[in-house]
Amino acid sequence: MNDQKNKIFIILVGGGKVSTGYTNGKLTHIPNHLSAIKSIENTKVVLKAVVEKNIKIRNFLVNKGIKAYKNIDDIKYINKNDIFVICTPPKDRLLLIKKCNKFKIRNLILEKPLSEKFIESIKIKEYVHKYKINLFTNYHRRNIKTLVELKRKLKDCVAINVHYNNGLLNYASHAIDLINFYFGKLIYVQGIKNENKKNNKLNNSYSFYGILKKNIFVNFQSYEKVNYDLLDLEFICKNKKIVLKTGGSLIIEEKPIKNLYYKGYNHLKSIKEHKKNSEGFKELYLNLYNFVVNNNKTNFCNIENSCYVTEVCEKVIKSVKNGRKQII
Ligand SMILES: NC(=O)c1ccc[n+]([C@@H]2O[C@H](COP(=O)([O-])OP(=O)(O)OC[C@H]3O[C@@H](n4cnc5c(N)ncnc54)[C@H](O)[C@@H]3O)[C@@H](O)[C@H]2O)c1
Repeated sequence: MNDQKNKIFIILVGGGKVSTGYTNGKLTHIPNHLSAIKSIENTKVVLKAVVEKNIKIRNFLVNKGIKAYKNIDDIKYINKNDIFVICTPPKDRLLLIKKCNKFKIRNLILEKPLSEKFIESIKIKEYVHKYKINLFTNYHRRNIKTLVELKRKLKDCVAINVHYNNGLLNYASHAIDLINFYFGKLIYVQGIKNENKKNNKLNNSYSFYGILKKNIFVNFQSYEKVNYDLLDLEFICKNKKIVLKTGGSLIIEEKPIKNLYYKGYNHLKSIKEHKKNSEGFKELYLNLYNFVVNNNKTNFCNIENSCYVTEVCEKVIKSVKNGRKQII
């Protein structure tokens, strides 16, 4: 194998917060995708270009020595082994997937959520099945080794509490996917209330509960008043409780359960621990590399699973609106 064959070539589509850290004319966030690519670049991963419609962001990238284009069609040297990573907001995703497919690509990473509406997810699913594209949604927590290993410890889990903010389709969708990865699917959901009404679907938050097929009770509670990134999961097992803090740094705590009475959750205690990191994104690219070059199986969130997440979110919203539980 020559050197080129041992590398994967990435084209980032959308150069905003999650991709380059750039927003409103300034660098405001950790550039998750760029940092992850940079950390393994030259050995395994090569960034070919970023496609971004905003001229300010393109100029910023060009100043950093990164090739930046306004449209996918402006790139002249794409080949079918390149991997497009779509980091745009979840609108018009099918349109972008179709554009990428003009180059007969086989592998595609898509930022979560797959789409805002379940019906769009189904259309995307039909399209990628038809063209035999591997589409993976970036629910990156299921790629993180420590979280994969945690599965072993959760065998006697009876209930899960999720504490989150920043939107059902946004932060909560990560937890819906992780719970699916650990335990399988929900049978039904029942929404309790809409905690905040933002003018975009992604950031609307809802509290709800449901039952998993494995007979595990799941409770999602949103806390919109906290001013840090909150995504904590508590796994209540027969004689222990495992707390997984994933809003920023990954923290896992195991505590004994002395009695059955559940004392509630002091989410404010975890503020200090919530520093941002992008470990999951690095593992995404390492797994992607192993999948493409070494033909290894991975835990990527595939199209079926990412459709399931949008289905759950849609049913939660419906059940809040009509006050009735929704079967999945
Ligand atoms: N996996 C994660 O942990 C994680 C974290 C944060 C955000 N996200 C997801 O990433 C996506 C993007 O979020 P963001 O916060 O970076 O958004 P953003 O608005 O900051 O960035 C999106 C960028 O895409 C560009 N864009 C939109 N349509 C385009 C097109 N057709 N061609 C080229 N560029 C286009 C916009 O100009 C913008 O700069 C969302 O779906 C979000 O949910 C995932």
